[in-house]
Amino acid sequence: MSTVVVTGPIPDPPDSLLRADHRVLEVPATGAAGRRDLLAALDGAEVAGIVSTVTAAVDREVLAAAGPSLRVVANVAVGYDNIDVDACQEHGVLVTNTPGVLTEATADLAFALVLMVTRRLGEAERLIRCGTPWAWEMDFLLGRSLADKTFGVLGLGGIGQATARRARAFGMRVIYHSRRRADAAIEVELDARYVDIDELITTSDVLSLHAPLTPHTHHLIGADQFAAMKPTAYLVNTARGPLVDEAALVTALRTGQIAGAGLDVYEQEPQVNTGLIGLENAVLIPHLGSATVETRTAMADLAVRNVLAVLAGDPPLTPVSS
Ligand code: DGY
Repeated sequence: MSTVVVTGPIPDPPDSLLRADHRVLEVPATGAAGRRDLLAALDGAEVAGIVSTVTAAVDREVLAAAGPSLRVVANVAVGYDNIDVDACQEHGVLVTNTPGVLTEATADLAFALVLMVTRRLGEAERLIRCGTPWAWEMDFLLGRSLADKTFGVLGLGGIGQATARRARAFGMRVIYHSRRRADAAIEVELDARYVDIDELITTSDVLSLHAPLTPHTHHLIGADQFAAMKPTAYLVNTARGPLVDEAALVTALRTGQIAGAGLDVYEQEPQVNTGLIGLENAVLIPHLGSATVETRTAMADLAVRNVLAVLAGDPPLTPVSS
């Protein structure tokens, strides 16, 4: 039996599965206080595994506090920008993530944002809740239609593909840009055309972000890109906040450089740029991409199975590399 730190409660059955074989220290690692608690819990505790949630940064300081007993960090997320993978490799610590199991839930949410922002549903709901008088009128709260419009996907991995599939069902044309061009079979299935990033930016009616956060993708969408987008275009981000320069986004939304934005993620979570808060053309939700009971259970299950495999001396199920 080894000691495993979990940086926040995880659901059953994976929680019980982990506890059946290992001693579990639950250390919610959110915010500065959480980080202090995590460092203190790791110090001298001979921890062999960390099940990390996206709010927990696993960096050199954490690795130093854990010491040589640490063998695996299992992130309960597909994205792993909260983990210093190079430092983990240097320390001989395996890193795993949870690809696949959150694809459909995240694509559902991305498309929910597409519908919310293009049909002004947040604004409409606020109006009703505020008791504002209203009546059906020809030009009341008009949004934009999706059929025959261009859906641009930045990052055609699993979630990008699943979101594009939904866009096709709504009668949209799909274009995409990705680090690597997708297999021909995927392009055929989605009738998706590969374009360079400039064409993606200038042509999309809805631009949906699905790229991982890396030094290369940081602020990939900023003032220049907003200036190049159609004034009738919408941005949807369910990937990672820092892909977008939020200050530039506020300006673009305020000045009508783009029509609207649907955001699930932010540059400095859980803070949200105050400039976004008062903007009716921004739909803002709190990092809910994978937030369904089924999906979070599957994510926790995969993370736990990765830990169990590594601590049993077996290869991890879903390792990541830098
Ligand atoms: C992920 O898996 O990267 C999500 O952002 C977590 O909800």
